[in-house]
Amino acid sequence: MAVTSTSLASQLAGPTSLSYCPNFSGLRRSSCSKLDHSNSISATQSLFQHLHSHLRLSSSRKASRAVVTMTGTGKFFVGGNWKCNGTKDSISKLVSDLNSAKLEADVDVVVAPPFVYLDQVKSSLTDRIEISAQNSWVGKGGAFTGEISVEQLKDIGVKWVILGHSERRHIVGEDDQFIGKKAAYALSEGLGVIACIGELLEEREAGKTFDVCFQQLKAFADTVPSWDNVVIAYEPVWAIGTGKVATPQQAQEVHAAVRDWLKNNVSAEVASKTRIIYGGSVNGGNSAELAKQEDIDGFLVGGASLKGPEFAIIINSVTSKKVAA
Ligand code: PGA
Repeated sequence: MAVTSTSLASQLAGPTSLSYCPNFSGLRRSSCSKLDHSNSISATQSLFQHLHSHLRLSSSRKASRAVVTMTGTGKFFVGGNWKCNGTKDSISKLVSDLNSAKLEADVDVVVAPPFVYLDQVKSSLTDRIEISAQNSWVGKGGAFTGEISVEQLKDIGVKWVILGHSERRHIVGEDDQFIGKKAAYALSEGLGVIACIGELLEEREAGKTFDVCFQQLKAFADTVPSWDNVVIAYEPVWAIGTGKVATPQQAQEVHAAVRDWLKNNVSAEVASKTRIIYGGSVNGGNSAELAKQEDIDGFLVGGASLKGPEFAIIINSVTSKKVAA
């Protein structure tokens, strides 16, 4: 259920009870519970405090006119996947642009440079932004030519890893089970996992979008010890690097289905807490409309994350979650 100006106003006006959403985290809310009348005044005050502190409403607007449409409870999350791009020089320019960008406070921001530049980025980028790897080995390091272990990533201060990206699924040939095992290992060692899922164009056209996404999701669910450090990235393959972004409605439809799948197959708590971010041709011009969707908790950005100022616009699109009625 979304918190809207109407529902919020009627909740606050109710004579005998107040349906109150107590836990705003960032911009998110958890499930609502009924409070009795004796608690309603302090609950009302507390609710407005939450709205004011987390939504940063402009003073010219009444809190009761705010529209907050959020289904999950996690903080907005934006990742920049730099893929196999960059040189020492271009990366140092990108880092300096990111260091000087003004970023909204209530967003988790992560960038994923190519392996060889991880250390350079880690030592020059502001601590405000965390570092992700684009891949990791499925188990402990050793005689695995060309691979990078989770232990090595942790050793240089990497906090996240992107797993199951469509380029690794469809170009390199990684399958669901292998990706699931990688996720389980990375999580068991304390890395956060950006777990990617998404359908090919022919799968969408054949009406198999949900089947494909749920099957990929299940491979993660079957192996991960906990969902605490998992962010799900829904990235329709036909939208990646093509300039053909999913419409906000197309993205929302799949995000809601993914959240529902988590609710039915894992737990309501995991469904509510797990961030579901969208990826595929997100840019500074379309992020605000996408961010308004109730189940879109952020973005995984490829091409547009290579431009610091544009990436900052995408990060700051969290503000479009706050819409005046
Ligand atoms: P894109 O890539 O933004 O360039 O479409 C997204 C991704 O692959 O994560």
